[in-house]
Amino acid sequence: MNTSEFIYKSSEKNIENLTVAWQTPSNIALVKYWGKSEPQIPKNASISFTLNNCNTKTKIEFSKTNTLQSPEFELYFEGKKKDDFKPKINKFFERIKEYCPYILEYKMVIHSENSFPHSSGIASSASGMAAIAMCLMNLEKELNPSLTDAYINQKASFLARLGSGSASRSIEGPLVVWGEHPKITGSSDLYGVKFPFNVHTVFEDYCDTILLVDKGEKQVSSTVGHNLMHDHPYAENRFKQANDNLEKLSEILQNGDIKSFISLVESEALTLHAMMLTSNPYFILMKPNTLEIINEIWEYRKETNSNVCFTLDAGANVHLLYPQNEKETIENFIKETLSKYCQKNHYICDNVGFGAQKI
Ligand code: PMV
Repeated sequence: MNTSEFIYKSSEKNIENLTVAWQTPSNIALVKYWGKSEPQIPKNASISFTLNNCNTKTKIEFSKTNTLQSPEFELYFEGKKKDDFKPKINKFFERIKEYCPYILEYKMVIHSENSFPHSSGIASSASGMAAIAMCLMNLEKELNPSLTDAYINQKASFLARLGSGSASRSIEGPLVVWGEHPKITGSSDLYGVKFPFNVHTVFEDYCDTILLVDKGEKQVSSTVGHNLMHDHPYAENRFKQANDNLEKLSEILQNGDIKSFISLVESEALTLHAMMLTSNPYFILMKPNTLEIINEIWEYRKETNSNVCFTLDAGANVHLLYPQNEKETIENFIKETLSKYCQKNHYICDNVGFGAQKI
């Protein structure tokens, strides 16, 4: 595994102060990543839709200082100093300083905010880590203007991965694969790559409405969940199944076979949770209303032949996925039938997006 190309070597320019700001999206996996080895290497390849409205905006002010022993930064989240978020980001900086030694030459003040409500149960680690990675790569580009956009995106994804695995899929869009896979040209365990084939038009502007079933903090973190895959009795079969599913989904995304998309994506979601149910110790992240919603979706599909389907991430919220041409009818279905299962009737309307943007 060659990571040396990501080690920053020299500064062509001297920069005293720089402020940069980036907006990076959340993403929703269709084939799930669950299980990894050090350092953040996935046990199987995964693929996600990049989202559009659910994003993090992060600004970093860099000020040159004498060389530091360890990264120094202040952190503000939604305008308030947030020292309890610092350990996670500190660990991220410690991990990446080998690749970005310049972070020891600057003091950093980080301001971050999410477009989705705080404690909505939507993980912000993917978009959050991706935003910091893009800000760092912006500084790196200023220090070394010869860097290409392709290199910047690749290294940003590489860095973001070291903060949170799924963050590697939050730099570009609309579909990103992370993890080496024989059928996906250019794929790597080290960074995400854009899905390299032509996508059928039906999937180009897919909708994702996130039904907020439980806005609370998860009882079991994804770090713990990933670790429980180490001695999991079904782990090896699961990793193989995920890679097989990615191969099948690659075909489906190209040929536009929505019915096959539905059964593959729902099976992936339930398999992810089946891994949790069969871990030792076992745990359940779905809530009763998660199941109510799933049953309503199945009932609705039977009655209407709609193409709506669901996926889940590591939590109780349900992502409703559907084609743009069903937007109006599905919005009615949500309002009339599904919103009552959401906390305070809250849900977030999103759709497929295109990745990081400088702001
Ligand atoms: O990136 P992490 O370590 O938070 O893991 C994310 C895992 C899932 O969201 C459940 C699946 C995925 O592929 O995004």
